[in-house]
Amino acid sequence: MASKTKYSRLPTGLEPKDTSQPKSKKFAVPKITRLKLCGIIFVVIFVSITIAVSCIKSSYLEQTPICNLSKNGTRLPQGVAEDSVSHMKFKHMKKRLPQCIIIGVRKAGTRALLKYLNIHPDVVAKGAEMHFFDDDEFYTKSLEAYRKEMPPSFEGQLTVEKTPGYFTEPLVPERMYRMNSSIRLLLILREPVERLVSDYLQFAEGKITQGKPCETFNEKVFDKYGNINKSYKGVSRSVYHKHLKRWTEDLFTMKQFLIIESSELVQDPPAVMAKVEDFLGLRHYIKPRHFYFNKTKGFHCIKSGGGQECLADSKGREHPDLKPNVLEKLKEFYAPHNKKLYKMIGEDFARFGWDDY
Ligand code: A3P
Repeated sequence: MASKTKYSRLPTGLEPKDTSQPKSKKFAVPKITRLKLCGIIFVVIFVSITIAVSCIKSSYLEQTPICNLSKNGTRLPQGVAEDSVSHMKFKHMKKRLPQCIIIGVRKAGTRALLKYLNIHPDVVAKGAEMHFFDDDEFYTKSLEAYRKEMPPSFEGQLTVEKTPGYFTEPLVPERMYRMNSSIRLLLILREPVERLVSDYLQFAEGKITQGKPCETFNEKVFDKYGNINKSYKGVSRSVYHKHLKRWTEDLFTMKQFLIIESSELVQDPPAVMAKVEDFLGLRHYIKPRHFYFNKTKGFHCIKSGGGQECLADSKGREHPDLKPNVLEKLKEFYAPHNKKLYKMIGEDFARFGWDDY
């Protein structure tokens, strides 16, 4: 009778088989009905799934925009503590049009400049060359299409892109001016003959890789009379003052430009980057500790975290020696153009050996 009272609240069929078992606290379990047990299991499974989904979501976010924020522990905007990143919302970041563009010149160290600038926590750099202003198809798509290609940034961070082709393309200055007449422009220039050789080596490597025939340096640079072939773009790209004139005549002011000398960036990255920081109104952050000289590469590489990052093998190719008469002809050709450039920029690059031969 007593046992019947005890189990009277159980649904039929749940009575224990052996009712003569001792009744200790341990065996108070039978009070949990199957229905309750199912409910508990359901709740446990539901909570586990919810936790797992939110973990996956947050780790996805960390791999995409948020990981940009803490790159080397340096990608946070000023005043934002590292441990507060996880509380940040993606909505604080936006894709913005670049406020600074590295416009060229091709083969003068534009990639190194962008990479070095990207060390700064207040800078977000677009890695790929955009070719927005020099590609009619892309340009006619709208500024919005260009903006969407930019990396996300916090307010106060500077968005930078580099497309070395911009400097020498006639339509670019006006198009860029229409986007932002007060944009800041970085222009890195290299001694014209060295730049020409570098330009040619890139062209030749491209041809060889494609298995196509390739003219020699002399065939490209000189016409059949032995005169300099000014229509070869490799040659004309090094006539800097002509290109710069298009940018500064009626459009940008020289104050909007920082002109960097290529060999100076190769020799002393921290010193040049300090000038870049001043020009862009950035706090001084990039220091010698961010670089080391890699003897095998023959250039500085970036110290990142515990590792190192050198530029690709296509940067820093070995240059062949030019025959003295070829070098002399080219130097003589560029000398008056260099003088015009020095006058225009108010700086004499002869001190970097531009006019020596
Ligand atoms: P070379 O390959 O002729 O030596 P860009 O990035 O504009 O194409 O310029 C390439 C040039 O960047 C290289 O030309 C090299 O001289 C120069 N450069 C400057 N700093 C460098 C670095 N840290 N590593 C490799 N190349 C660098």
